[in-house]
Amino acid sequence: MIVQDPRAGVWTPESWRALPALQQPVYPDPAALEQTLAELRQLPPLVTSWEVVSLREKLAGAVRGEAFVLQAGDCAERFADCTPRRIANKLKVLVQMSLVLVLGAKLPVVRIGRFAGQYAKPRSDDFETREGVKLPSYRGDIINGPEFTAEARTPDPARLLRGFERSAMTLNFARALAKGGFADLHHPEYFDLDWSARSAQAEDYRRLVETITESLRFMENVLGVKAGETDRIDFFTSHEALHLGFEEAQTRQVPHRPGYFDLTAHFPWLGVRTADPDGAHVEFLRGIENPIGVKVGPTTPPEQLLRLLDVLHPQNVPGRLTLIHRFGAGKIEAGLPGLIRAVQADGRNVLWICDPMHGNTRAASNGYKTRDFEEIRRELDLAFDLHAGLGSRLGGVHVEMTGENVTECTGGARGLDESDLPRAYETMVDPRLNYEQSLEIAFLVAAKMAKLRLNCD
Ligand code: PEP
Ligand code: CO
Repeated sequence: MIVQDPRAGVWTPESWRALPALQQPVYPDPAALEQTLAELRQLPPLVTSWEVVSLREKLAGAVRGEAFVLQAGDCAERFADCTPRRIANKLKVLVQMSLVLVLGAKLPVVRIGRFAGQYAKPRSDDFETREGVKLPSYRGDIINGPEFTAEARTPDPARLLRGFERSAMTLNFARALAKGGFADLHHPEYFDLDWSARSAQAEDYRRLVETITESLRFMENVLGVKAGETDRIDFFTSHEALHLGFEEAQTRQVPHRPGYFDLTAHFPWLGVRTADPDGAHVEFLRGIENPIGVKVGPTTPPEQLLRLLDVLHPQNVPGRLTLIHRFGAGKIEAGLPGLIRAVQADGRNVLWICDPMHGNTRAASNGYKTRDFEEIRRELDLAFDLHAGLGSRLGGVHVEMTGENVTECTGGARGLDESDLPRAYETMVDPRLNYEQSLEIAFLVAAKMAKLRLNCD
């Protein structure tokens, strides 16, 4: 039974303002914020409504089992990372992972980057105290600076415009790369696979790479077309819809299409800390036409999930709503089946994606915030099995990764341990898989999907 939105109030891009909004920065000069938002309202959007509609349709395909979704990127982008090399590397690892997944899933892969706007972060504490000094927490480059000084930590509305402009630059370069000159990425010869020899699955990986190479060669030699032309690299953008003034400023109507579109990204998502069905974030997201993601986990009882779906997904149209579950390897078996059953019993059409990162964060003995590759792998493995066991389907994965050779997560074929963490630890918020670990996860997921397919045939 689908219940209509219990509030049935009139939605407008600003109706969220009447409700409690968690995780919003406190600006010293609220008038300056409104002035900046007015400026933002006048600027051209980052994405277009037809791209948004196209993603919604692709996600509907994924609900039907006709596509698999890869959502990946930084936990928090930094303004300083808006460089050609880093943007190219990020796109490169996203494309290479997707190519590996295509082989495993035997399905088209919908690529969604956590980039070109993933600049605002929810925090567990509003303040951080160091040696008796208490300052506002760092909330992402679009809000304040990470340095522990009163000046850096004071929220500055000018950062909203800088972030918007950096998003535009990132997207502009990524789109140009995707359009031409980037076809190399389709070729496993350009994959850096040195790490794979160290893996227990080395032989499987070698075979998978050979298959990719053969299919590409077949296309190019036998069909006479370049892989880059047959499979245009398209990708979509996503970020957590956290700063509601920012999202509102770019939410608008477009000619010849009903409804309002949030044009800061194709796929905004709702984080677990702002998922109160009666809160401002849910109010904002309920009215936009974009496909949306909703993070769920140990803090989401099935009743709350159904209420969220009443409000955010009243029409139950496949593609509109994706549930991104993030339990942790130790909690997924206890928590996920209840959510799957609640959704099934109520006949809700949702896409399920597994985020194996956010439930597996822990402090290493040397104080670094880390995640272990094995836990990430285990949660993914369990997610596939739990869905299959209940007649549901896992339709995608969501990971925090980077194209750089960082040392933020332990494990993987190269066997990084806690003593490696200080070597190249860059993240401002959560630890990410590095280039090699990201590709390895893609290989493991591909192998898992191939195995599940065999079991079904
Ligand atoms: C995130 O995706 O970076 C995040 C903060 O996630 P969650 O809301 O699931 O904790
Ligand atoms: Co994160």
